[in-house]
Amino acid sequence: MKKIGIIGVGEYLPKKVLSNADLEKMVDTSDEWITTRTGIKKRRIALPEEASSDLATNAAKDALKNSGLKAQDLELIIVATITPDMQFPSTACIVQAKLGAKKAVCFDISAACAGFVYAIITAQQFIARGAYKNALVIGSEVLSTVTDWKDRNTCVLFGDGAGAAVLAEVRSGGILSTYLGSDGSLAELLMVPAGGSRTPASHKTIDKRLHYIKMQGNEVFKLAVKIMADAAQSALKQAGLECADIDLVIPHQANIRIIMAMAKRLGLPSSKIYLNIEEYGNMSSASTAAALCGAVKRNRIKKGDIVLLDAFGAGLVWGACLIKW
Ligand code: UT7
Repeated sequence: MKKIGIIGVGEYLPKKVLSNADLEKMVDTSDEWITTRTGIKKRRIALPEEASSDLATNAAKDALKNSGLKAQDLELIIVATITPDMQFPSTACIVQAKLGAKKAVCFDISAACAGFVYAIITAQQFIARGAYKNALVIGSEVLSTVTDWKDRNTCVLFGDGAGAAVLAEVRSGGILSTYLGSDGSLAELLMVPAGGSRTPASHKTIDKRLHYIKMQGNEVFKLAVKIMADAAQSALKQAGLECADIDLVIPHQANIRIIMAMAKRLGLPSSKIYLNIEEYGNMSSASTAAALCGAVKRNRIKKGDIVLLDAFGAGLVWGACLIKW
């Protein structure tokens, strides 16, 4: 059985910072409410000329640099995004052209906030069965373009960013176990209702603000805690490991209260949870991707450590992946 691991990570966060104080001037909210209810202090906002492929390409260059591979070596590029540059072609193809990764096969994955975990697990399958030698996996989002800046229930939560990882066969360590799940019967809890074939863009959809994220936050919150804890347990069971064996959890960063409730269920101390939510908010697929990169760059992950990626999102979808570093 081939061992497939992560040989390089990268990130890109747009320069512009939007603080809770800035949001106080836009909607009826307060720094105190946002901080205590979500754990978010700031988020990054892309420039009007920056699309998902631009953020993704910058994160990819960072990941390639520390993987030792060149763009021309890449055989597979998967971009996880719910804010693609356009409906088609895929953002992965646009990234391919920007990188000059001529040899790569490219496609996008739509699995919302679990997109990066879905993409890592998809890439692993292709490499394990010998179809490709390596893969570049990116989570990239410009959520500011689908955020309703008049809706205080959602606009305080989201931010823009990208993270990337390069996967290949490794001599030691690598992915130990994976777990994915979906429940489409809960699709209406979190969605952008218009702009697809169900409700194409029209003057009416724009007037009704249907091109922005709609979320039943409370319902999603309750499901998220259980789903993330169960996903972690399933991945651990498959690998024959216990919660205590985990050195670091890289969770999806939707709400600090969700993350801490999940940690409590698993009996994990907060010192074993990596957080970037305070700085960046919820960046959907980019959250776990940038968090993994942040943890590596801040030396929070050492060789031999057991790392758990754990995410959930709109769909609903969820996924967990245990990696020996
Ligand atoms: O990334 C994938 C999935 N997304 C998530 O996982 C998000 C999950 N949900 C959440 O994180 C939380 O449900 C929220 C942060 C969205 C909301 O927190 P909550 O503790 O569930 O609050 P709530 O929706 O129950 O609202 C409590 C109150 C309401 O006022 P009333 O009706 O009790 O008077 C809201 O109107 O807080 C009010 N509220 C706000 N107040 C100030 C909602 N948003 C704000 C705001 N500022 N920004």
